[in-house]
Amino acid sequence: MLELRDVNTYYGTSHVLQGVSFEVPEGRCTALLGRNGAGKTTTIHSVAGLTPPRGGSISFKGREVSGLPPHKISKLGIGLVPQGRRIFPSLTIRENLTMPARGGTNGSNGRGSSWTLRDVYELFPVLEEREGNMGNQLSGGQQQMLAIGRALMTNPEFVLMDEPSEGLAPVIIDQVGDIVLKLKEMGLSILLVEQHVSLACRAADEVLVMNKGRIVWRGKPDELLANESVQHEYLGV
Ligand SMILES: Nc1ncnc2c1ncn2[C@@H]1O[C@H](COP(=O)(O)OP(=O)(O)OP(=O)(O)O)[C@@H](O)[C@H]1O
Ligand SMILES: [Mg+2]
Repeated sequence: MLELRDVNTYYGTSHVLQGVSFEVPEGRCTALLGRNGAGKTTTIHSVAGLTPPRGGSISFKGREVSGLPPHKISKLGIGLVPQGRRIFPSLTIRENLTMPARGGTNGSNGRGSSWTLRDVYELFPVLEEREGNMGNQLSGGQQQMLAIGRALMTNPEFVLMDEPSEGLAPVIIDQVGDIVLKLKEMGLSILLVEQHVSLACRAADEVLVMNKGRIVWRGKPDELLANESVQHEYLGV
């Protein structure tokens, strides 16, 4: 569904992504792991059009998307759950959800139609209970749910999730894992960037390990969990 081929991305003269290639098949979750500064967010931003690659190709459902502006990429069905949630602090929960909403034709809510506020509230009841609260009045876990709900309101077929477990307590990280699995059950395809190895391995069909802007290892979650040297060398576990 999503395919990166030899992607090279720069910040000015700094060559960050150095020939990144991988694919995420339809309905699957691929996890991208790596230390701070490895290039995970740059990979997500390359797909979303926020840091367009200078070389290589990114295709989504067979269509080249690199070079398109972010809003066009979003409209094609790629949703972004950004690192650090990026909730609008002075908007209410409801406004955070409805502002980016877009009537799509992708039928991605698991019932063959577009996501509505009601669907998001069914998935995350706590957001309905607090819908009049401001974004900055939520806990970290609730903000993460809001960030995911906001992405769903754009009717994606594919979701880019950047470190959804960052800064959350272990019990909440388990809930994030449940949510990722649920989105997969609904038929969404997912690129999950994580530093939390067990969460990534629980949700992913395939795991990629990135170091210094390159994919240095790939395999099944079980293979990574059994490979202490890769975990030690590249993930600091
Ligand atoms: N806006 C920027 N301008 C210049 N360099 C940047 C910029 N953003 C990131 N970098 C550099 O690019 C490299 C990759 O950063 P990136 O944010 O992709 O890492 P990451 O794997 O997402 O790390 P983290 O786990 O800390 O979020 C780092 O060396 C970083 O310093
Ligand atoms: Mg990052």
